[in-house]
Amino acid sequence: MIETVLTRLLTIDAPIVQAPMAGGPTTPELIAAVSNAGGLGSLGAGYLSPEQIRSAIRHIRTLTDRPFGVNLFVPGPGQAEEPEEAVLTDMAACLDVYRRELGIPERPSLHLDFPSFEEQIDVVLEERVPVFSFTFGIPSPEVMERLSQHGTFVIGTATTVDEAIRLERAGAHAVVAQGSEAGGHRGTFLKEASESLIGLMALVPQIADHVAVPVIASGGIMDGRGLAASLTLGASAVQMGTAFLTCTESGAHPTHKQKILAASEDATEVTNAYSGKAARGIQTTFMRSMPAGRIPAYPIQHAMTTDIRQASARANNPEYMSLWAGQGLRLANAQSAAVLIEKTIAQAQKRIAW
Ligand SMILES: Cc1cc2nc3c(=O)[nH]c(=O)nc-3n(C[C@H](O)[C@H](O)[C@H](O)COP(=O)(O)O)c2cc1C
Repeated sequence: MIETVLTRLLTIDAPIVQAPMAGGPTTPELIAAVSNAGGLGSLGAGYLSPEQIRSAIRHIRTLTDRPFGVNLFVPGPGQAEEPEEAVLTDMAACLDVYRRELGIPERPSLHLDFPSFEEQIDVVLEERVPVFSFTFGIPSPEVMERLSQHGTFVIGTATTVDEAIRLERAGAHAVVAQGSEAGGHRGTFLKEASESLIGLMALVPQIADHVAVPVIASGGIMDGRGLAASLTLGASAVQMGTAFLTCTESGAHPTHKQKILAASEDATEVTNAYSGKAARGIQTTFMRSMPAGRIPAYPIQHAMTTDIRQASARANNPEYMSLWAGQGLRLANAQSAAVLIEKTIAQAQKRIAW
């Protein structure tokens, strides 16, 4: 196994974090398989209710006694603002075109009852989860203090050096450096996402030079070459998402898995069409045809497109699904999580003399 400052702090054997991926991929089976294989499994709990989070944590604990993490979305500053009525009306009309194509009711009522971050975090604390990670911002000093009192290991997400410095100052014990290659939502919270698209090769050493806490490289890492390169650049671990999405234990929709396994490196794009927040995914008809500008901000657009994404998934039609994925697509394989970890470690060990 490969030992780093982070593997020692987390008491894990492999410097591999399975990315928390909200929306279903991170099943208890995937998380436990990763932790049992020596990595750190993580639950993407951003969309889950407090009860769902509690039951997932308890399920994970029946499958592993190794450390694992839970990840939440920090509510952003602009999130409480209601978009203009005209923007909502235009978007509703625009989305009805897709609903007609999918044969689902037009203008469904909008469900804006998102789980409360405070209630979600209460469960993380009550259940004494060993590792808590977050994205989209920084929790309040009160929340950071409660986490510290509980002895929770806290990991924040940065897409720039300034964000990493802010996270360290706020008390994060490690920082994920999320490069522009990364699949899923951008964790950017200080500037516009479009101004914070830094490639991982440039981002990792610059963050490592400016913070004292361990850095976790994330974005486009699919195998031992990516792990060896990240450690060489100054990271203490990697966080891999897309590589775990196609694993046997992943709960990703079969159509999502198939699209990843068949796609090439140029298939993705950063879009805010699905959720109102920038995220990288495989190009679809929905992404290409959504009018730019005038898209309500997250989480309104996320709520407005939910029925469309779900109907598309039910029909096994990828064109209206959000197919989040990073740029390492050609390196994806259908395999178990344990095999992915084993192969990644062996390949990295061959490249770096440990
Ligand atoms: C399907 C999917 C869902 C994701 N959901 C989350 C999430 O809930 N929380 C989070 O911090 N990061 C999330 N991410 C981003 C990952 O943490 C990570 O930065 C990214 O997967 C790394 O790029 P890669 O997919 O090329 O490995 C998600 C990524 C994907 C692909």
